[in-house]
Amino acid sequence: MNKVRTLFLIASLLSVSLLQAQTNKIFSESAAAKEQRMAWWTNDRFGMFIHWGIYSMAARHEWVKHNEHMTNEEYRQYFDFFNPDQFDPAAWAKQAKAAGMKYAVLTTKHHDGFCLFDSKYTDYKATNTPAHRDLVREYVNAFRAQGLKVGFYYSLLDWHHPDYTMDDAHPLVQTDQSQSNYDRLNKGRDMRKYRQYLRDQITELLTNYGKIDILWLDWTWGKDNKRGKHAEDWGAVELLKLVRRLQPGILVNNRLGLDEYEDGGDFVTPEQVSTKELEKYKGKTWETCQTFSGSWGYYRDENTWKKDHQLLDLLITSTANGGNLILNVGPTARGEFDYRAKNALDSLSWWMHANNRAIYHCTYAPDEFKVPENTQLTYNKTTRRLYVHLMEYPKTGTLVLPGYKDKIKYIQFLHDASEIKSKSDGGDDVTLLLPEKKPNVEIPVVELLLK
Ligand code: GLC
Repeated sequence: MNKVRTLFLIASLLSVSLLQAQTNKIFSESAAAKEQRMAWWTNDRFGMFIHWGIYSMAARHEWVKHNEHMTNEEYRQYFDFFNPDQFDPAAWAKQAKAAGMKYAVLTTKHHDGFCLFDSKYTDYKATNTPAHRDLVREYVNAFRAQGLKVGFYYSLLDWHHPDYTMDDAHPLVQTDQSQSNYDRLNKGRDMRKYRQYLRDQITELLTNYGKIDILWLDWTWGKDNKRGKHAEDWGAVELLKLVRRLQPGILVNNRLGLDEYEDGGDFVTPEQVSTKELEKYKGKTWETCQTFSGSWGYYRDENTWKKDHQLLDLLITSTANGGNLILNVGPTARGEFDYRAKNALDSLSWWMHANNRAIYHCTYAPDEFKVPENTQLTYNKTTRRLYVHLMEYPKTGTLVLPGYKDKIKYIQFLHDASEIKSKSDGGDDVTLLLPEKKPNVEIPVVELLLK
């Protein structure tokens, strides 16, 4: 009997540890609790990314220090002359809100190591530039005042810190990747001290500014890259524990390099991917980050700005696949949004004013609803409304909803609540009778009230 008992005990101990190995979790939060913690974000769907720093002065990409292999001395001029005299975070917040964005994430420190906030642990910060202010604090206050959720981007990389060692992205090794150059430049550098710096600054950011809704950490190399930095270099597990202790409700992205843990991040972050690629994220918790143009930081001479239709396509396709979109502005060094960003935000405002019901609280449609030709579907399961986004307006003025018969109570355009008539040819399909002339909306949306 005793033997049987012992065997049973061993077997159950084994299965518990097997289970733990399979799930591999750092925290004990249940799936339901996580869903609840993230509910506001999943419902809101749309946020603003803001890349701003002294690289905005160079106005040729936030990686300019790397791209042009600059030393700290060569980069110094941007620090000395940074004076954003037109910085008005209330105006930023109003533009974000008008465009329908519900949260924002600002670069508190980017890869160049410059801090927009007043940190005790460095002199390399906005308060020591001609700006003379903690710009992060002003951002937090202004965005909160508009009712927007507030997030911090924080770069794990640091091309300024004296203890940060060389890796294949560091500006100083770009012309010479030899081991001897690494060894020479790494002399006297101590990643243990840098790890402490990370902890200290994250602690400042998460204690000095009230409730912070999102922490967007950036980034960690793939496991097999030998000349990159990995979770251990950041002390990632401990760092994440610290974050969750300081701000239990916060959402953290997935760029700490903790992929082997189920809870090493709250959401995945496909960057600058096409709308086609977004389909494969369906079922995951995700946010795609995208620029208006090709660069995150202000880039004066970059001209590949996305068209309004493309921006809306990103927003709609994200929702239609159960994900979020965070769209980036790179303010100028004077502290204003570029006119092209303002125009794009304006167009988004028009569309969102008329159609935000097809975005907020929406996700992909149940499988029983086939996607009609040239459309995208979004769905609100609480109100049981299905939204047909007319990505290309049907030239014929008719649109077939395949197999939708007996499923619909009422049909209207969303932007003006005007009735849309339909006909049935006796089969399972429903044919919408749309006006031949496309309504004055970039992508019109048909709202179906389901039975
Ligand atoms: C990349 C880039 C960085 C940008 C970020 C936004 O990781 O290094 O410049 O901030 O993507 O997702």
